[in-house]
Amino acid sequence: MKLLFYAAKDYDRKSFDSVIGDFKDIEIDYIEHELEPRTAVLAKGYDAVCAFVSADVGAETLEIFADCGVKAVLMRCAGYNNVDTEKAKELGITVKIVPGYSPESVAELAMGLALAVNRRLYKAYNKVRENDYTLKGLRGVLLHGKTAGIVGTGKIGAAMCRICNGFGMKVIAYDVYENPDLKGFVEYVSLDELLERSDLISLHCPLLDSTYHMINIENIKKMKDGVILVNTSRGALIDTDELIEGIRMDKFLGVGLDVYEEETGNVYEDRSDQIMAHSVTARLLSFPNVMITSHQGFYTLEALKSIAETTLQNMVDAANGVDTRNNV
Ligand code: NAI
Repeated sequence: MKLLFYAAKDYDRKSFDSVIGDFKDIEIDYIEHELEPRTAVLAKGYDAVCAFVSADVGAETLEIFADCGVKAVLMRCAGYNNVDTEKAKELGITVKIVPGYSPESVAELAMGLALAVNRRLYKAYNKVRENDYTLKGLRGVLLHGKTAGIVGTGKIGAAMCRICNGFGMKVIAYDVYENPDLKGFVEYVSLDELLERSDLISLHCPLLDSTYHMINIENIKKMKDGVILVNTSRGALIDTDELIEGIRMDKFLGVGLDVYEEETGNVYEDRSDQIMAHSVTARLLSFPNVMITSHQGFYTLEALKSIAETTLQNMVDAANGVDTRNNV
Protein backbone atom coordinates (compact mmCIF):
# COMPACT_ATOMS: atom_id res chain seq x y z
CA MET A 1 0.00 0.00 0.00
CA LYS A 2 1.40 3.36 -1.01
CA LEU A 3 0.99 6.53 1.05
CA LEU A 4 1.86 10.02 -0.18
CA PHE A 5 2.75 12.25 2.75
CA TYR A 6 2.20 15.97 2.08
CA ALA A 7 3.98 18.88 3.76
CA ALA A 8 6.45 16.55 5.45
CA LYS A 9 8.76 18.09 8.04
CA ASP A 10 11.86 16.44 9.50
CA TYR A 11 10.02 15.61 12.71
CA ASP A 12 7.22 13.91 10.72
CA ARG A 13 9.71 11.65 8.96
CA LYS A 14 11.40 10.82 12.27
CA SER A 15 8.19 9.89 14.06
CA PHE A 16 6.65 7.94 11.14
CA ASP A 17 9.92 6.18 10.31
CA SER A 18 10.24 5.18 13.97
CA VAL A 19 6.98 3.16 13.84
CA ILE A 20 6.82 2.07 10.16
CA GLY A 21 8.49 -1.23 11.10
CA ASP A 22 5.19 -2.31 12.66
CA PHE A 23 3.33 -1.67 9.37
CA LYS A 24 5.23 -3.81 6.85
CA ASP A 25 2.66 -3.39 4.03
CA ILE A 26 2.88 0.41 3.98
CA GLU A 27 5.36 2.32 1.87
CA ILE A 28 5.58 6.09 2.47
CA ASP A 29 6.80 8.78 0.07
CA TYR A 30 7.33 12.11 1.80
CA ILE A 31 7.04 15.40 -0.08
CA GLU A 32 7.46 18.91 1.26
CA HIS A 33 4.69 20.44 -0.89
CA GLU A 34 1.52 21.45 0.86
CA LEU A 35 -1.65 19.72 -0.27
CA GLU A 36 -3.79 21.94 -2.47
CA PRO A 37 -5.54 21.43 -5.82
CA ARG A 38 -2.27 22.24 -7.66
CA THR A 39 -0.35 19.45 -5.88
CA ALA A 40 -3.17 16.92 -5.56
CA VAL A 41 -2.30 15.37 -8.92
CA LEU A 42 1.01 14.15 -7.44
CA ALA A 43 -1.05 11.48 -5.65
CA LYS A 44 -1.61 9.50 -8.86
CA GLY A 45 -0.74 5.88 -8.15
CA TYR A 46 -1.07 6.20 -4.36
CA ASP A 47 -3.71 4.41 -2.27
CA ALA A 48 -3.91 7.13 0.36
CA VAL A 49 -2.58 10.56 1.23
CA CYS A 50 -1.62 12.02 4.58
CA ALA A 51 -2.29 15.73 5.26
CA PHE A 52 -2.26 18.26 8.09
CA VAL A 53 -4.16 21.29 9.37
CA SER A 54 -3.13 23.78 6.67
CA ALA A 55 -3.91 21.50 3.70
CA ASP A 56 -6.70 22.42 1.33
CA VAL A 57 -8.80 19.27 1.23
CA GLY A 58 -11.76 20.95 -0.43
CA ALA A 59 -13.99 19.70 -3.24
CA GLU A 60 -11.50 20.46 -6.03
CA THR A 61 -8.68 18.56 -4.31
CA LEU A 62 -10.93 15.59 -3.60
CA GLU A 63 -12.15 15.40 -7.20
CA ILE A 64 -8.54 15.24 -8.39
CA PHE A 65 -7.86 12.49 -5.83
CA ALA A 66 -10.85 10.51 -7.09
CA ASP A 67 -9.47 10.75 -10.65
CA CYS A 68 -6.05 9.65 -9.36
CA GLY A 69 -7.50 6.57 -7.62
CA VAL A 70 -6.78 7.79 -4.06
CA LYS A 71 -9.09 5.93 -1.68
CA ALA A 72 -8.33 7.51 1.69
CA VAL A 73 -7.34 10.87 3.16
CA LEU A 74 -5.54 10.37 6.46
CA MET A 75 -5.44 13.56 8.50
CA ARG A 76 -2.55 13.51 10.98
CA CYS A 77 -4.48 15.78 13.35
CA ALA A 78 -7.72 15.96 15.32
CA GLY A 79 -9.44 18.84 13.52
CA TYR A 80 -10.88 18.37 10.01
CA ASN A 81 -12.54 21.72 9.29
CA ASN A 82 -10.31 21.97 6.17
CA VAL A 83 -11.80 18.78 4.68
CA ASP A 84 -14.99 18.79 2.58
CA THR A 85 -16.34 15.66 4.23
CA GLU A 86 -19.61 15.69 2.22
CA LYS A 87 -17.69 15.72 -1.05
CA ALA A 88 -15.40 12.93 0.19
CA LYS A 89 -18.44 10.81 1.04
CA GLU A 90 -19.97 11.51 -2.38
CA LEU A 91 -16.72 10.42 -4.08
CA GLY A 92 -16.30 7.33 -1.87
CA ILE A 93 -13.05 8.60 -0.33
CA THR A 94 -12.57 7.57 3.31
CA VAL A 95 -11.45 10.36 5.67
CA LYS A 96 -9.84 9.44 8.97
CA ILE A 97 -8.40 11.59 11.72
CA VAL A 98 -6.38 11.09 14.88
CA PRO A 99 -8.86 12.26 17.50
CA GLY A 100 -7.18 12.05 20.87
CA TYR A 101 -3.48 11.47 20.43
CA SER A 102 -2.33 13.41 23.47
CA PRO A 103 -4.94 15.82 24.83
CA GLU A 104 -2.64 16.76 27.71
CA SER A 105 -0.03 18.04 25.22
CA VAL A 106 -2.46 20.72 24.01
CA ALA A 107 -3.91 21.43 27.44
CA GLU A 108 -0.42 21.89 28.94
CA LEU A 109 0.39 24.45 26.23
CA ALA A 110 -2.91 26.22 26.93
CA MET A 111 -1.95 26.59 30.59
CA GLY A 112 1.58 27.55 29.49
CA LEU A 113 0.15 30.41 27.43
CA ALA A 114 -2.09 31.51 30.30
CA LEU A 115 0.90 31.61 32.65
CA ALA A 116 3.16 33.28 30.09
CA VAL A 117 0.76 36.14 29.38
CA ASN A 118 -0.23 36.52 33.02
CA ARG A 119 3.36 36.80 34.27
CA ARG A 120 4.69 38.31 30.99
CA LEU A 121 7.33 35.58 30.78
CA TYR A 122 8.25 36.54 27.20
CA LYS A 123 9.08 40.06 28.41
CA ALA A 124 10.89 38.86 31.53
CA TYR A 125 13.10 36.53 29.48
CA ASN A 126 14.17 39.32 27.16
CA LYS A 127 14.62 41.88 29.95
CA VAL A 128 17.01 39.69 31.95
CA ARG A 129 18.98 38.84 28.80
CA GLU A 130 19.40 42.62 28.31
CA ASN A 131 20.72 43.04 31.87
CA ASP A 132 17.46 44.74 32.86
CA TYR A 133 16.41 43.35 36.22
CA THR A 134 13.54 45.76 36.86
CA LEU A 135 10.00 44.47 37.33
CA LYS A 136 8.27 47.11 35.22
CA GLY A 137 5.44 45.62 33.17
CA LEU A 138 5.71 42.16 34.72
CA ARG A 139 3.04 42.17 37.44
CA GLY A 140 0.55 39.33 37.08
CA VAL A 141 -2.40 38.04 39.09
CA LEU A 142 -2.83 34.91 41.18
CA LEU A 143 -4.65 32.06 39.42
CA HIS A 144 -5.19 30.09 42.64
CA GLY A 145 -8.72 30.73 43.88
CA LYS A 146 -9.82 32.34 40.60
CA THR A 147 -12.35 30.97 38.10
CA ALA A 148 -11.36 29.12 34.94
CA GLY A 149 -13.99 28.94 32.19
CA ILE A 150 -13.45 26.07 29.77
CA VAL A 151 -15.37 26.18 26.48
CA GLY A 152 -15.63 22.65 25.07
CA THR A 153 -14.98 19.78 27.48
CA GLY A 154 -14.01 16.98 25.11
CA LYS A 155 -10.61 15.35 25.46
CA ILE A 156 -8.46 18.49 25.50
CA GLY A 157 -10.95 20.65 27.40
CA ALA A 158 -11.27 17.93 30.05
CA ALA A 159 -7.48 17.79 30.43
CA MET A 160 -7.49 21.60 30.82
CA CYS A 161 -10.22 21.33 33.49
CA ARG A 162 -8.01 18.90 35.45
CA ILE A 163 -4.97 21.19 35.13
CA CYS A 164 -6.95 24.26 36.29
CA ASN A 165 -8.38 22.23 39.18
CA GLY A 166 -4.81 21.29 40.12
CA PHE A 167 -3.93 24.99 40.18
CA GLY A 168 -6.60 25.51 42.84
CA MET A 169 -8.98 27.28 40.48
CA LYS A 170 -12.76 26.98 40.49
CA VAL A 171 -13.60 25.35 37.16
CA ILE A 172 -16.75 26.20 35.21
CA ALA A 173 -17.48 24.96 31.70
CA TYR A 174 -19.75 25.32 28.70
CA ASP A 175 -20.38 22.55 26.19
CA VAL A 176 -23.32 21.30 24.19
CA TYR A 177 -22.82 17.95 26.00
CA GLU A 178 -21.72 17.48 29.60
CA ASN A 179 -18.69 15.24 30.14
CA PRO A 180 -19.52 12.77 32.95
CA ASP A 181 -15.80 12.32 33.78
CA LEU A 182 -15.75 15.88 35.13
CA LYS A 183 -18.57 15.42 37.59
CA GLY A 184 -17.72 16.61 41.07
CA PHE A 185 -15.25 19.36 40.21
CA VAL A 186 -16.63 21.13 37.13
CA GLU A 187 -19.79 23.22 37.12
CA TYR A 188 -21.55 23.47 33.74
CA VAL A 189 -23.03 26.90 32.99
CA SER A 190 -24.35 28.76 29.94
CA LEU A 191 -21.83 30.44 27.64
CA ASP A 192 -23.02 33.86 28.82
CA GLU A 193 -22.50 32.94 32.48
CA LEU A 194 -19.06 31.50 31.70
CA LEU A 195 -18.07 34.74 29.94
CA GLU A 196 -19.32 36.82 32.85
CA ARG A 197 -17.71 34.79 35.67
CA SER A 198 -14.34 33.62 34.33
CA ASP A 199 -10.92 35.07 35.10
CA LEU A 200 -9.34 32.70 32.56
CA ILE A 201 -11.23 31.58 29.45
CA SER A 202 -9.75 28.74 27.40
CA LEU A 203 -11.29 27.58 24.11
CA HIS A 204 -11.37 23.86 23.33
CA CYS A 205 -14.35 23.35 21.03
CA PRO A 206 -14.05 22.53 17.33
CA LEU A 207 -14.55 25.06 14.54
CA LEU A 208 -18.10 24.58 13.25
CA ASP A 209 -20.67 26.92 11.73
CA SER A 210 -22.09 27.21 15.26
CA THR A 211 -18.73 28.13 16.83
CA TYR A 212 -17.32 30.40 14.07
CA HIS A 213 -16.47 33.78 15.65
CA MET A 214 -18.05 32.75 18.96
CA ILE A 215 -15.68 35.23 20.56
CA ASN A 216 -16.83 38.51 19.03
CA ILE A 217 -17.14 42.01 20.44
CA GLU A 218 -20.59 41.32 21.84
CA ASN A 219 -19.25 38.38 23.85
CA ILE A 220 -16.01 40.16 24.74
CA LYS A 221 -18.06 42.94 26.34
CA LYS A 222 -19.70 40.32 28.60
CA MET A 223 -16.28 39.24 29.96
CA LYS A 224 -14.74 40.52 33.18
CA ASP A 225 -12.22 43.31 32.86
CA GLY A 226 -8.74 41.84 33.22
CA VAL A 227 -9.68 38.41 31.88
CA ILE A 228 -7.07 36.09 30.32
CA LEU A 229 -8.15 34.55 27.00
CA VAL A 230 -6.43 31.48 25.53
CA ASN A 231 -7.15 29.79 22.21
CA THR A 232 -5.39 26.55 21.30
CA SER A 233 -8.29 25.21 19.26
CA ARG A 234 -8.92 26.93 15.90
CA GLY A 235 -8.24 30.55 14.94
CA ALA A 236 -11.67 31.35 13.54
CA LEU A 237 -13.37 30.73 16.89
CA ILE A 238 -12.28 34.34 17.50
CA ASP A 239 -13.13 37.34 15.31
CA THR A 240 -9.63 38.83 15.21
CA ASP A 241 -10.70 42.38 14.31
CA GLU A 242 -13.13 42.39 17.22
CA LEU A 243 -10.51 40.86 19.53
CA ILE A 244 -8.25 43.79 18.65
CA GLU A 245 -11.14 46.14 19.46
CA GLY A 246 -11.49 44.38 22.84
CA ILE A 247 -7.74 44.62 23.53
CA ARG A 248 -7.89 48.36 22.75
CA MET A 249 -10.79 48.65 25.25
CA ASP A 250 -8.27 47.25 27.80
CA LYS A 251 -10.49 44.23 28.43
CA PHE A 252 -7.71 41.65 28.70
CA LEU A 253 -4.94 41.06 31.16
CA GLY A 254 -3.49 38.78 28.52
CA VAL A 255 -4.30 36.90 25.35
CA GLY A 256 -2.47 33.69 24.43
CA LEU A 257 -3.04 32.25 20.97
CA ASP A 258 -1.62 29.04 19.55
CA VAL A 259 -4.01 29.42 16.61
CA TYR A 260 -5.24 32.54 14.82
CA GLU A 261 -7.25 33.36 11.73
CA GLU A 262 -4.34 34.25 9.45
CA GLU A 263 -2.19 31.25 10.31
CA THR A 264 -2.64 29.35 7.02
CA GLY A 265 0.46 30.22 5.02
CA ASN A 266 2.47 30.89 8.17
CA VAL A 267 2.19 27.58 10.00
CA TYR A 268 5.61 25.90 10.17
CA GLU A 269 7.15 28.29 7.59
CA ASP A 270 10.12 30.60 8.12
CA ARG A 271 8.89 33.95 6.82
CA SER A 272 11.37 36.05 8.78
CA ASP A 273 12.82 37.61 5.61
CA GLN A 274 9.47 38.59 4.17
CA ILE A 275 7.66 41.89 4.37
CA MET A 276 4.14 41.08 5.42
CA ALA A 277 1.25 42.55 3.48
CA HIS A 278 -1.77 43.75 5.43
CA SER A 279 -1.75 41.56 8.53
CA VAL A 280 -3.97 41.55 11.60
CA THR A 281 -1.44 39.16 13.16
CA ALA A 282 1.21 41.89 13.07
CA ARG A 283 -1.26 44.23 14.74
CA LEU A 284 -1.97 41.62 17.43
CA LEU A 285 1.75 41.19 18.04
CA SER A 286 2.13 44.91 18.61
CA PHE A 287 0.27 44.62 21.93
CA PRO A 288 2.35 43.95 25.09
CA ASN A 289 -0.24 41.55 26.53
CA VAL A 290 -0.51 39.19 23.55
CA MET A 291 1.58 36.09 22.96
CA ILE A 292 1.25 34.00 19.82
CA THR A 293 2.73 30.58 19.16
CA SER A 294 2.43 28.77 15.84
CA HIS A 295 0.11 25.81 16.27
CA GLN A 296 2.49 23.86 18.48
CA GLY A 297 -0.03 22.45 20.96
CA PHE A 298 0.37 18.95 19.58
CA TYR A 299 4.15 19.14 19.36
CA THR A 300 5.49 16.79 22.01
CA LEU A 301 7.51 13.61 21.58
CA GLU A 302 4.67 11.50 22.94
CA ALA A 303 2.01 13.08 20.74
CA LEU A 304 4.08 12.70 17.55
CA LYS A 305 4.60 8.97 18.17
CA SER A 306 0.94 8.47 18.91
CA ILE A 307 -0.09 10.41 15.75
CA ALA A 308 2.23 8.26 13.60
CA GLU A 309 0.94 4.95 15.02
CA THR A 310 -2.73 5.93 14.73
CA THR A 311 -2.38 7.36 11.21
CA LEU A 312 -0.75 4.18 9.91
CA GLN A 313 -3.35 2.01 11.69
CA ASN A 314 -6.01 4.25 10.07
CA MET A 315 -4.48 3.38 6.69
CA VAL A 316 -4.68 -0.33 7.42
CA ASP A 317 -8.29 0.04 8.61
CA ALA A 318 -9.26 2.11 5.56
CA ALA A 319 -7.77 -0.50 3.23
CA ASN A 320 -9.72 -3.24 5.02
CA GLY A 321 -12.94 -1.19 5.03
CA VAL A 322 -12.95 -1.08 8.84
CA ASP A 323 -14.87 1.90 10.20
CA THR A 324 -13.70 3.12 13.60
CA ARG A 325 -14.32 6.19 15.72
CA ASN A 326 -11.51 7.78 13.69
CA ASN A 327 -13.75 7.99 10.60
CA VAL A 328 -15.35 11.37 9.86
P1 NAI B 1 -13.25 16.69 21.22
O1 NAI B 1 -14.10 16.34 20.04
O2 NAI B 1 -12.82 15.62 22.16
O3 NAI B 1 -13.98 17.82 22.07
C1 NAI B 1 -14.63 18.93 21.50
C2 NAI B 1 -15.73 19.34 22.46
O4 NAI B 1 -16.33 20.53 21.95
C3 NAI B 1 -16.85 18.28 22.59
O5 NAI B 1 -17.11 18.00 23.95
C4 NAI B 1 -18.04 18.95 21.91
O6 NAI B 1 -19.30 18.58 22.49
C5 NAI B 1 -17.72 20.42 22.19
N1 NAI B 1 -18.50 21.32 21.34
C6 NAI B 1 -19.01 21.11 20.10
N2 NAI B 1 -19.72 22.17 19.72
C7 NAI B 1 -19.66 23.07 20.73
C8 NAI B 1 -20.20 24.38 20.93
N3 NAI B 1 -20.96 24.96 19.99
N4 NAI B 1 -19.93 25.00 22.09
C9 NAI B 1 -19.17 24.41 23.05
N5 NAI B 1 -18.65 23.18 22.92
C10 NAI B 1 -18.89 22.53 21.77
O7 NAI B 1 -12.00 17.46 20.61
P2 NAI B 1 -10.56 17.65 21.27
O8 NAI B 1 -9.68 16.50 20.93
O9 NAI B 1 -10.71 18.03 22.68
O10 NAI B 1 -10.01 18.89 20.42
C11 NAI B 1 -10.61 20.17 20.53
C12 NAI B 1 -10.05 21.06 19.43
O11 NAI B 1 -8.66 21.32 19.68
C13 NAI B 1 -10.03 20.41 18.02
O12 NAI B 1 -11.28 20.63 17.37
C14 NAI B 1 -8.93 21.12 17.33
O13 NAI B 1 -9.49 22.22 16.64
C15 NAI B 1 -8.04 21.63 18.46
N6 NAI B 1 -6.69 21.07 18.46
C16 NAI B 1 -5.60 21.93 18.46
C17 NAI B 1 -4.32 21.44 18.48
C18 NAI B 1 -3.11 22.33 18.51
O14 NAI B 1 -2.00 21.88 18.20
N7 NAI B 1 -3.25 23.58 18.91
C19 NAI B 1 -4.06 19.99 18.43
C20 NAI B 1 -5.26 19.19 18.50
C21 NAI B 1 -6.52 19.72 18.49
